[in-house]
Amino acid sequence: MHDKTKALMKRGCDFLGTEYAILCGAMSWVSERNLVSAISNAGGFGVIACGAMTPDLLETGIAATKALTAKPFGVNLITMHPMLVDLIAVCAKHRVSHVVLAGGIPPKGSVDAIKAFGAKVLVFAPTLALAKKLLRSGADALVIEGSEAGGHIGPVATSVLAQEFLPELAESHVVFVAGGIGRGDMIAAYLEMGAVGVQLGTRFACATESIAHPAFKKAFFRANARDAVTSVQVDPRLPVIPVRALKNKGSEEFTAKQREVALLLDQGKVDMGEAQLQIEHFWAGALRRAVIDGDVESGSVMAGQSVGMVNSEEPVADIIQQLMDQSEAALAR
Ligand SMILES: Cc1cc2nc3c(=O)[nH]c(=O)nc-3n(C[C@H](O)[C@H](O)[C@H](O)COP(=O)(O)O)c2cc1C
Repeated sequence: MHDKTKALMKRGCDFLGTEYAILCGAMSWVSERNLVSAISNAGGFGVIACGAMTPDLLETGIAATKALTAKPFGVNLITMHPMLVDLIAVCAKHRVSHVVLAGGIPPKGSVDAIKAFGAKVLVFAPTLALAKKLLRSGADALVIEGSEAGGHIGPVATSVLAQEFLPELAESHVVFVAGGIGRGDMIAAYLEMGAVGVQLGTRFACATESIAHPAFKKAFFRANARDAVTSVQVDPRLPVIPVRALKNKGSEEFTAKQREVALLLDQGKVDMGEAQLQIEHFWAGALRRAVIDGDVESGSVMAGQSVGMVNSEEPVADIIQQLMDQSEAALAR
Protein backbone atom coordinates (compact mmCIF):
# COMPACT_ATOMS: atom_id res chain seq x y z
CA MET A 1 0.00 0.00 0.00
CA HIS A 2 1.23 3.48 -0.87
CA ASP A 3 4.65 2.16 -1.89
CA LYS A 4 5.48 4.88 -4.40
CA THR A 5 4.42 7.68 -2.07
CA LYS A 6 6.20 6.16 0.90
CA ALA A 7 9.41 5.75 -1.11
CA LEU A 8 9.37 9.47 -1.94
CA MET A 9 8.51 10.31 1.68
CA LYS A 10 11.26 8.14 3.15
CA ARG A 11 13.64 10.96 4.08
CA GLY A 12 10.76 12.93 5.60
CA CYS A 13 9.52 9.93 7.58
CA ASP A 14 13.02 9.22 8.89
CA PHE A 15 13.38 12.86 9.89
CA LEU A 16 10.03 13.00 11.70
CA GLY A 17 10.01 9.43 13.00
CA THR A 18 6.59 8.81 11.45
CA GLU A 19 4.87 6.46 9.05
CA TYR A 20 3.82 9.31 6.72
CA ALA A 21 5.67 12.56 6.04
CA ILE A 22 2.50 14.59 6.54
CA LEU A 23 2.62 17.32 9.15
CA CYS A 24 -0.45 19.00 10.50
CA GLY A 25 0.83 22.57 10.77
CA ALA A 26 0.32 24.19 14.14
CA MET A 27 -2.92 26.15 14.32
CA SER A 28 -3.38 28.37 17.36
CA TRP A 29 -6.25 27.16 19.57
CA VAL A 30 -6.95 24.26 17.17
CA SER A 31 -3.69 22.33 17.48
CA GLU A 32 -3.97 21.24 21.07
CA ARG A 33 -3.65 17.82 22.69
CA ASN A 34 -6.63 16.20 20.93
CA LEU A 35 -5.85 17.06 17.31
CA VAL A 36 -2.09 16.76 17.77
CA SER A 37 -2.26 13.29 19.33
CA ALA A 38 -4.84 12.14 16.76
CA ILE A 39 -2.55 13.16 13.89
CA SER A 40 0.47 11.45 15.41
CA ASN A 41 -1.50 8.32 16.33
CA ALA A 42 -2.70 8.11 12.71
CA GLY A 43 0.90 8.05 11.44
CA GLY A 44 1.26 11.75 10.65
CA PHE A 45 3.10 14.40 12.62
CA GLY A 46 1.11 16.63 14.95
CA VAL A 47 2.46 19.99 16.12
CA ILE A 48 1.27 21.82 19.24
CA ALA A 49 0.61 25.51 18.59
CA CYS A 50 2.15 27.44 21.44
CA GLY A 51 0.96 30.80 20.08
CA ALA A 52 0.83 33.31 22.91
CA MET A 53 0.73 30.64 25.65
CA THR A 54 2.73 31.04 28.85
CA PRO A 55 5.48 28.50 29.59
CA ASP A 56 3.23 26.89 32.24
CA LEU A 57 0.41 26.37 29.76
CA LEU A 58 2.79 24.96 27.17
CA GLU A 59 4.13 22.56 29.78
CA THR A 60 0.61 21.34 30.55
CA GLY A 61 -0.11 20.97 26.84
CA ILE A 62 3.00 18.91 26.16
CA ALA A 63 2.38 16.60 29.14
CA ALA A 64 -1.28 16.14 28.16
CA THR A 65 -0.34 15.33 24.56
CA LYS A 66 2.24 12.80 25.73
CA ALA A 67 -0.49 11.13 27.76
CA LEU A 68 -2.51 10.65 24.56
CA THR A 69 0.22 9.47 22.19
CA ALA A 70 3.51 7.65 22.36
CA LYS A 71 4.29 8.75 18.79
CA PRO A 72 6.48 11.75 17.90
CA PHE A 73 4.98 15.24 17.76
CA GLY A 74 6.42 18.74 17.63
CA VAL A 75 5.96 22.13 19.25
CA ASN A 76 5.56 25.34 17.25
CA LEU A 77 7.02 28.45 18.89
CA ILE A 78 6.48 31.97 17.60
CA THR A 79 9.88 33.68 17.39
CA MET A 80 8.65 37.05 18.70
CA HIS A 81 7.11 35.53 21.85
CA PRO A 82 8.62 37.59 24.72
CA MET A 83 9.32 34.40 26.70
CA LEU A 84 10.86 32.38 23.85
CA VAL A 85 13.85 31.36 26.00
CA ASP A 86 11.56 29.98 28.72
CA LEU A 87 9.40 28.17 26.18
CA ILE A 88 12.51 26.50 24.75
CA ALA A 89 13.44 25.47 28.31
CA VAL A 90 10.02 23.83 28.72
CA CYS A 91 10.60 21.90 25.46
CA ALA A 92 14.01 20.85 26.77
CA LYS A 93 12.57 19.69 30.09
CA HIS A 94 10.03 17.51 28.29
CA ARG A 95 12.54 16.29 25.69
CA VAL A 96 10.41 17.52 22.79
CA SER A 97 11.89 15.89 19.68
CA HIS A 98 11.08 18.60 17.09
CA VAL A 99 10.61 22.35 17.47
CA VAL A 100 9.16 24.49 14.67
CA LEU A 101 10.18 28.15 14.80
CA ALA A 102 7.54 30.31 13.11
CA GLY A 103 6.63 33.94 12.67
CA GLY A 104 9.93 35.46 11.60
CA ILE A 105 13.66 34.99 11.56
CA PRO A 106 14.76 32.98 14.62
CA PRO A 107 16.53 35.26 17.10
CA LYS A 108 20.24 34.68 17.72
CA GLY A 109 20.94 31.64 19.82
CA SER A 110 17.45 30.11 19.59
CA VAL A 111 18.35 27.42 17.04
CA ASP A 112 21.44 26.45 19.07
CA ALA A 113 19.46 26.39 22.33
CA ILE A 114 17.01 23.90 20.79
CA LYS A 115 19.69 21.73 19.25
CA ALA A 116 21.55 21.70 22.57
CA PHE A 117 18.94 19.36 24.07
CA GLY A 118 18.93 17.15 21.01
CA ALA A 119 15.77 18.34 19.27
CA LYS A 120 15.50 18.96 15.56
CA VAL A 121 14.67 22.48 14.39
CA LEU A 122 12.30 23.29 11.53
CA VAL A 123 12.19 26.83 10.20
CA PHE A 124 10.24 28.84 7.64
CA ALA A 125 12.02 31.10 5.16
CA PRO A 126 10.47 33.67 2.85
CA THR A 127 13.41 33.78 0.42
CA LEU A 128 15.91 31.30 -0.93
CA ALA A 129 18.84 33.36 0.38
CA LEU A 130 17.44 33.34 3.90
CA ALA A 131 16.65 29.65 3.68
CA LYS A 132 20.26 28.88 2.79
CA LYS A 133 21.49 31.06 5.64
CA LEU A 134 19.24 29.35 8.22
CA LEU A 135 20.22 25.89 7.00
CA ARG A 136 23.90 26.88 7.16
CA SER A 137 23.49 28.12 10.69
CA GLY A 138 22.05 24.86 11.97
CA ALA A 139 18.36 24.54 11.10
CA ASP A 140 17.62 20.89 10.31
CA ALA A 141 14.66 21.32 7.99
CA LEU A 142 12.76 23.93 6.07
CA VAL A 143 9.04 24.46 5.51
CA ILE A 144 8.19 26.56 2.49
CA GLU A 145 4.69 27.98 2.81
CA GLY A 146 2.85 29.76 0.05
CA SER A 147 0.19 32.43 0.17
CA GLU A 148 -2.67 29.96 -0.39
CA ALA A 149 -2.29 28.90 3.25
CA GLY A 150 -4.54 29.85 6.12
CA GLY A 151 -3.31 32.17 8.86
CA HIS A 152 -0.33 34.53 8.56
CA ILE A 153 1.08 34.36 5.07
CA GLY A 154 3.75 35.64 2.74
CA PRO A 155 3.09 37.12 -0.69
CA VAL A 156 4.25 34.27 -2.98
CA ALA A 157 2.23 31.24 -4.13
CA THR A 158 3.30 27.73 -3.10
CA SER A 159 3.77 26.66 -6.72
CA VAL A 160 6.30 29.44 -7.30
CA LEU A 161 8.15 28.89 -4.00
CA ALA A 162 8.39 25.18 -4.84
CA GLN A 163 10.03 25.98 -8.18
CA GLU A 164 12.43 28.43 -6.58
CA PHE A 165 13.45 26.40 -3.53
CA LEU A 166 13.19 22.71 -4.39
CA PRO A 167 15.61 22.46 -7.34
CA GLU A 168 18.27 24.21 -5.24
CA LEU A 169 17.72 22.65 -1.83
CA ALA A 170 15.77 19.41 -2.06
CA GLU A 171 18.65 17.07 -2.75
CA SER A 172 20.82 18.17 0.13
CA HIS A 173 18.19 19.31 2.65
CA VAL A 174 14.96 18.26 4.27
CA VAL A 175 12.24 20.46 2.75
CA PHE A 176 8.50 20.28 3.42
CA VAL A 177 5.93 22.15 1.32
CA ALA A 178 2.85 23.85 2.79
CA GLY A 179 0.00 26.02 1.57
CA GLY A 180 -3.02 25.13 -0.50
CA ILE A 181 -2.68 21.36 -0.34
CA GLY A 182 -6.13 19.77 -0.22
CA ARG A 183 -5.61 16.49 -2.08
CA GLY A 184 -2.99 13.80 -2.39
CA ASP A 185 -2.43 14.56 -6.09
CA MET A 186 -0.76 17.78 -5.01
CA ILE A 187 1.32 15.93 -2.42
CA ALA A 188 2.55 13.61 -5.17
CA ALA A 189 3.52 16.59 -7.31
CA TYR A 190 5.62 18.23 -4.59
CA LEU A 191 7.23 14.89 -3.67
CA GLU A 192 8.19 14.41 -7.30
CA MET A 193 9.81 17.84 -7.24
CA GLY A 194 11.99 16.71 -4.34
CA ALA A 195 10.07 17.68 -1.21
CA VAL A 196 10.39 15.04 1.52
CA GLY A 197 6.88 15.70 2.78
CA VAL A 198 4.10 18.22 3.20
CA GLN A 199 2.37 20.31 5.84
CA LEU A 200 -1.38 20.88 5.84
CA GLY A 201 -3.50 22.98 8.16
CA THR A 202 -6.87 23.82 6.64
CA ARG A 203 -7.60 20.21 5.63
CA PHE A 204 -7.21 19.04 9.25
CA ALA A 205 -8.72 22.00 11.15
CA CYS A 206 -12.23 20.54 11.21
CA ALA A 207 -11.42 16.86 11.69
CA THR A 208 -13.62 14.95 14.13
CA GLU A 209 -10.88 15.16 16.75
CA SER A 210 -10.51 18.94 16.39
CA ILE A 211 -11.98 20.85 19.32
CA ALA A 212 -12.95 23.79 17.06
CA HIS A 213 -16.49 25.03 17.77
CA PRO A 214 -19.27 23.51 15.61
CA ALA A 215 -19.98 26.96 14.15
CA PHE A 216 -16.32 27.29 13.09
CA LYS A 217 -16.49 23.88 11.41
CA LYS A 218 -19.77 24.74 9.69
CA ALA A 219 -18.23 27.92 8.29
CA PHE A 220 -15.41 25.82 6.82
CA PHE A 221 -17.79 23.26 5.27
CA ARG A 222 -19.82 26.02 3.61
CA ALA A 223 -16.91 28.07 2.31
CA ASN A 224 -15.40 28.06 -1.17
CA ALA A 225 -11.79 28.79 -2.05
CA ARG A 226 -12.68 32.39 -2.93
CA ASP A 227 -14.08 33.05 0.54
CA ALA A 228 -10.63 32.62 2.14
CA VAL A 229 -9.25 36.10 1.56
CA THR A 230 -6.24 38.08 2.81
CA SER A 231 -6.59 41.00 5.16
CA VAL A 232 -6.45 44.27 3.24
CA GLN A 233 -4.31 47.26 4.17
CA VAL A 234 -6.14 50.54 3.59
CA ASP A 235 -3.50 53.14 4.46
CA PRO A 236 0.21 52.90 3.65
CA ARG A 237 1.05 54.45 7.04
CA LEU A 238 -0.80 51.76 8.97
CA PRO A 239 0.76 48.35 8.34
CA VAL A 240 -1.50 45.30 8.31
CA ILE A 241 -0.02 41.83 8.70
CA PRO A 242 -1.42 39.67 5.89
CA VAL A 243 -3.68 36.96 7.27
CA ARG A 244 -5.86 34.61 5.20
CA ALA A 245 -9.28 34.00 6.75
CA LEU A 246 -12.90 33.59 5.70
CA LYS A 247 -14.42 36.96 4.89
CA ASN A 248 -17.07 37.99 7.40
CA LYS A 249 -18.47 41.00 9.23
CA GLY A 250 -15.16 41.33 11.10
CA SER A 251 -13.26 41.84 7.84
CA GLU A 252 -15.60 44.70 6.88
CA GLU A 253 -15.31 46.24 10.32
CA PHE A 254 -11.54 46.03 10.06
CA THR A 255 -11.60 48.06 6.85
CA ALA A 256 -13.87 50.63 8.51
CA LYS A 257 -11.59 50.74 11.56
CA GLN A 258 -8.54 51.43 9.40
CA ARG A 259 -10.35 54.32 7.66
CA GLU A 260 -11.44 55.74 11.02
CA VAL A 261 -7.93 55.55 12.49
CA ALA A 262 -6.39 57.05 9.32
CA LEU A 263 -8.81 59.98 9.63
CA LEU A 264 -7.93 60.51 13.30
CA LEU A 265 -4.28 60.49 12.25
CA ASP A 266 -4.93 63.09 9.51
CA GLN A 267 -6.76 65.27 12.05
CA GLY A 268 -3.87 64.95 14.51
CA LYS A 269 -6.15 63.37 17.11
CA VAL A 270 -3.87 60.34 17.56
CA ASP A 271 -0.14 59.97 16.99
CA MET A 272 1.38 57.36 14.68
CA GLY A 273 2.29 54.94 17.49
CA GLU A 274 -1.23 54.97 18.92
CA ALA A 275 -2.78 54.64 15.45
CA GLN A 276 -0.63 51.63 14.57
CA LEU A 277 -1.38 50.04 17.92
CA GLN A 278 -5.12 50.37 17.37
CA ILE A 279 -4.80 48.56 14.03
CA GLU A 280 -2.52 45.91 15.51
CA HIS A 281 -4.90 45.26 18.38
CA PHE A 282 -8.04 45.00 16.28
CA TRP A 283 -7.75 41.24 15.83
CA ALA A 284 -6.43 40.50 19.33
CA GLY A 285 -8.25 37.43 20.64
CA ALA A 286 -10.21 37.11 17.37
CA LEU A 287 -8.99 33.62 16.45
CA ARG A 288 -9.87 32.36 19.90
CA ARG A 289 -13.35 33.89 19.58
CA ALA A 290 -13.91 32.02 16.31
CA VAL A 291 -12.34 28.67 17.23
CA ILE A 292 -13.44 28.36 20.86
CA ASP A 293 -16.52 30.56 21.19
CA GLY A 294 -17.83 29.93 17.67
CA ASP A 295 -18.14 33.63 16.85
CA VAL A 296 -17.63 33.29 13.11
CA GLU A 297 -19.06 36.75 12.38
CA SER A 298 -16.62 39.01 14.20
CA GLY A 299 -13.93 36.44 15.05
CA SER A 300 -11.07 35.53 12.74
CA VAL A 301 -11.92 32.31 10.88
CA MET A 302 -8.41 31.65 9.57
CA ALA A 303 -8.58 29.31 6.59
CA GLY A 304 -6.56 28.56 3.49
CA GLN A 305 -7.82 28.41 -0.07
CA SER A 306 -8.11 24.64 0.17
CA VAL A 307 -11.12 25.24 2.46
CA GLY A 308 -13.37 24.52 -0.55
CA MET A 309 -12.18 20.91 -0.38
CA VAL A 310 -13.20 20.57 3.27
CA ASN A 311 -16.83 19.51 3.22
CA SER A 312 -17.54 17.42 6.28
CA GLU A 313 -16.19 16.30 9.62
CA GLU A 314 -13.93 13.29 9.13
CA PRO A 315 -11.59 11.44 11.48
CA VAL A 316 -7.93 12.38 11.05
CA ALA A 317 -7.01 8.79 10.12
CA ASP A 318 -9.52 8.85 7.23
CA ILE A 319 -8.18 12.17 5.93
CA ILE A 320 -4.62 10.86 5.99
CA GLN A 321 -5.63 7.65 4.21
CA GLN A 322 -7.47 9.64 1.51
CA LEU A 323 -4.43 11.85 0.97
CA MET A 324 -2.14 8.83 0.73
CA ASP A 325 -4.54 6.98 -1.64
CA GLN A 326 -4.82 10.03 -3.89
CA SER A 327 -1.07 10.54 -3.93
CA GLU A 328 -0.45 6.89 -4.74
CA ALA A 329 -3.03 6.94 -7.55
CA ALA A 330 -1.44 10.08 -9.00
CA LEU A 331 2.04 8.54 -8.90
CA ALA A 332 0.75 5.33 -10.47
CA ARG A 333 -0.68 7.38 -13.35
C1 LIG B 1 -6.78 28.40 11.88
C2 LIG B 1 -5.31 28.44 11.56
C3 LIG B 1 -4.41 28.84 12.53
C4 LIG B 1 -3.03 28.83 12.28
N1 LIG B 1 -2.16 29.17 13.29
C5 LIG B 1 -0.81 29.05 13.09
C6 LIG B 1 0.10 29.28 14.16
O1 LIG B 1 -0.27 29.56 15.28
N2 LIG B 1 1.44 29.14 13.90
C7 LIG B 1 1.90 28.79 12.65
O2 LIG B 1 3.12 28.68 12.46
N3 LIG B 1 1.05 28.58 11.62
C8 LIG B 1 -0.29 28.68 11.82
N4 LIG B 1 -1.15 28.39 10.78
C9 LIG B 1 -0.61 27.86 9.51
C10 LIG B 1 -0.58 26.29 9.53
O3 LIG B 1 0.34 25.82 10.46
C11 LIG B 1 -0.19 25.70 8.16
O4 LIG B 1 1.13 26.02 7.83
C12 LIG B 1 -1.10 26.15 7.05
O5 LIG B 1 -2.43 26.01 7.45
C13 LIG B 1 -0.82 25.30 5.80
O6 LIG B 1 -1.56 25.75 4.71
P1 LIG B 1 -3.07 25.27 4.38
O7 LIG B 1 -3.93 25.99 5.35
O8 LIG B 1 -3.25 25.74 2.99
O9 LIG B 1 -3.11 23.78 4.54
C14 LIG B 1 -2.54 28.43 11.01
C15 LIG B 1 -3.47 28.06 10.02
C16 LIG B 1 -4.83 28.04 10.27
C17 LIG B 1 -5.78 27.60 9.19
